This record gives sequence, structure tokens and C-alpha cells, in this order.
Amino acid sequence: MHPNLSFEQAPPISVPFRFFLTAPLFGIAAGLLLLWQGGEMLSSRWMPAALAATHLLVVGFMLQAMCGALLQFVPVAAGGNIWRPRLVAGIVHPLLLVAAGLLVAAFLSYRPALFLGAAHLFVAALGVFCIVVGAAVWRTPAQGPTIVALRIAMIGLLVTVALGATLATGLASGAQWPLLALTDIHAGWGLGGWGLVLLAGVSYFVVPMFQLTPAYPAWLARGVPLLLMLVLILWTLQLLGFPAEIRMAILFAGLAVAGAFAVQTLRLQFRRRRKVKDATLLFFRTAMVCLLVIVASALLFAAVPQFGQDARAPVWLGVLALVGVFVTAINGMLYKIVPFLNWLHLQRLGGMTVLPPTMNQMLAERRMRQQLYAHLAALVLLLAAVWFPLLARPAGLAFALDCLWLAANLVTAVRVYRDFRDRIRAAA
Ligand code: HEM
Repeated sequence: MHPNLSFEQAPPISVPFRFFLTAPLFGIAAGLLLLWQGGEMLSSRWMPAALAATHLLVVGFMLQAMCGALLQFVPVAAGGNIWRPRLVAGIVHPLLLVAAGLLVAAFLSYRPALFLGAAHLFVAALGVFCIVVGAAVWRTPAQGPTIVALRIAMIGLLVTVALGATLATGLASGAQWPLLALTDIHAGWGLGGWGLVLLAGVSYFVVPMFQLTPAYPAWLARGVPLLLMLVLILWTLQLLGFPAEIRMAILFAGLAVAGAFAVQTLRLQFRRRRKVKDATLLFFRTAMVCLLVIVASALLFAAVPQFGQDARAPVWLGVLALVGVFVTAINGMLYKIVPFLNWLHLQRLGGMTVLPPTMNQMLAERRMRQQLYAHLAALVLLLAAVWFPLLARPAGLAFALDCLWLAANLVTAVRVYRDFRDRIRAAA
């Protein structure tokens, strides 16, 4: 179903790690923003601070982690040849950092120059990234559903950035464009075409490998990214002016595909051969349950207009998608990828003579599990805060601490790597 792993192609460990270590910092910033702003921030999706926090998570936490993961995953798992990964990371990583900072500042201040600056920097950074990584996933001789998903995810990222830059320019110039429809289309491509398709493509590979489950059925693995792309093309046609019922039908078609992916992942996890419940499995399971809660909530909002027309309904869906699905799944993946990369690189450095520490010595299961509980508490508080504004500040603080804990755990793992690497070098 997928190509073999080829570790000779792996980039230097500093390439993915700089992205992985930066991602949680944006989560901390989003939590602190909520702590500062309080309950009003969650009263509507259009609150400037809500848009700022959304982008701290999507172009901060998610984009950093996903770009770092792709620079590692594409050469090792997808057989793609990435051109000069160290140089690409050296350009893309700082540009994304500054661009995300400018965009967040733009949402908080509505200064046109900040929107324009962010748009230019994002186009530059993600233009380089999409050309290099896109060329690698298009040229790879490997085949299979993961490759299809990676290709569609790259298209999704391109469309999202192009629309994001258009929106930013529109807001900066006060243009009379259909900003509402453009925002919905941009959000659809960003969360569905980029985020969910990439999550699915990587899951086809890592869920069976790390959680020892059976493989995803081929029809579903191929169908999810292709159907999501089809749905998003139809979703984009709303610019032509659809009646609300058709728009709703397209939205539910997309949710049905997302729900099928979540149900299948949970079913595979129940049939896994390794019955131990480690932190990664629980993170992943939580993410899939949140995806299903999104589908159920959307159905409820459609059935009971009293709820669906409440300005807090989209915020509830947003918290579930961003924190419940994406931050949770990425958190779990990082806990597998980071110790594994440490081990791999140390094993190559030490050769046959020095045995690297075990995965558990790199990052103890106990520490990951404690942070999982902190994450679940933060998620529940955030969801409750959407309806009970008094909880917003405690929820913000809890989320900031949750992400700080993740950062501390990742730094611990990197320290173990560095100490052991230095010992190998000293011995040599
Ligand atoms: C790459 C991943 C991205 C994702 C997943 C994403 C996601 C989203 C989402 C979900 C919304 C709707 C927020 C809401 O309804 O509260 C949104 C709005 C917006 N995004 Fe992004 N975004 C991304 C990148 C960008 C970039 C790179 C830019 C700018 C260069 C940008 C600019 C905007 C603007 C200006 C709006 C709001 C427009 C308005 O107020 O009408 N986004 N984005």
C-alpha cells in the first residue's frame, strides 16, 4: 500500500526539529491571548482576537508542525527528493515566523500595512515551500493513497494561501469583494483541503505502523482525499451565488467524508494488535472523536436553528476543529516522531558500537500522559468557555500551560539527543 521507509534520504535532524519546537510557542500565545481578552473573544467568529487566535493556531502551531513533518516525511516515507532541505528550512522557517506574527498583529490592529506585509511574506515562504515539496511529491516514483493525499494537500495549501493573501489585500485596501464567501472558501480549503487531507494521508502511513493496526481499506484511503477535493471545488463555486440549501448540502457532503475517515480510524484502532494504550493512541483517538462531534454538532445546528443561528455556533465548531482535531492529532504525532528521529539519528551516529537510549528514555510515557490530561482539561474548558464566558480566562491559561508542557517535553527529548550525541562524539 505504501513505499518502504528510506532513512538514507532523511534530512539533518535540525531541519524538522526547528519547526516542531516552534509550533507549541504559538499555542502558548493563543492561550495567553484568550487569557488577556476574556469571554468576549469567543462571542463570534468575527471578533478580531478570535481571528488572531485562529491564525496563531493555523499558521503558527499547525503550519509549523506540518511543514516540519513534510520535510521529513516526503523523503523518508514518500520517496520524494527534496532539494537542499537545510537551505529550504533556513529560508521558510524564519519567514513563516515573521509572517504569522504580522498577520496576528494585523488582525488585532487592522493596520493595512501589516496585512500587506503578512500576505507578501506568506506568499514568498509558502511559494518556496510548495515549489520544493510539491516537486518532490509530484516526481516521486512511489504510488498509493498517501501520495495522492500529499499531492492534494499541496494543492490545498496553495489555494488556501492564495485566498488568504487575497483576503488580506482586500481588507487592507477596503475592496468591495465578496469577503464573506471568500473567507468561507479559504477556511474550507485550509481546514479540509490542506489540514484534513494531510492528516489523512499521513495517518494511512503512521496509524498502521505506530499503532499496529490493519491497513486502511484502499477504497477509503483513496476516496477521502479525492472526494474532499471534489467537495471543495463545489464549495468554491458558491462564488457564483448558490441558494443556501445547496451550500448546506455541499457542507454536509464534506462532513460525511470527514466522518467516514474518523470512524474508520477508530475502527482500526479497536482492531490493533498491540493492546497497550499509549499517549499517542489516546491523542489520536481524541482527535477522531472530536471530528465526529463536529459532524454531530453541525447536524444539530442545522436541525435546531435556534442553536445554529447563535453567533457562538461557528466558534464551537472552530474550537473543536482547531484544538480538538488538529492540535490534538499533531501533539500525538510529535510524541512518536520526535523520539523516533532522535533514536534514528543517534543510531546512525553511534553505528554498531554505542546503543542509543530507548524511546521511553528519550521521552517517558508518564510525562506524555500527564500532558495529555492537561490537554484534555484545556480542551474541555475551551469548549465550555464558548457558552460560559466566565470560563474563558481559565481556559486560556489552561491551554497556554498545556502547550508550555508540550514544549517542555519536546525540549527534554532534544536534550537527551544532544547529550547522547556529545557522548558519542567524545568517545570517537
Ligand atoms: C495555511 C493555513 C490557513 C488556514 C487553515 C486558515 C484558516 C482560516 C479560517 C478557518 C478562517 C475563518 C476564521 C473565522 O471564521 O473566524 C480564516 C480567515 C482569514 N484568513 Fe486564514 N488560514 C490560513 C492561512 C492564511 C494566510 C496565509 C492568510 C494571509 C496571508 C490568511 C488570511 C485570512 C484572513 C484575512 C481571514 C479573515 C477575513 C475576514 O475577516 O473576512 N489566512 N482563515
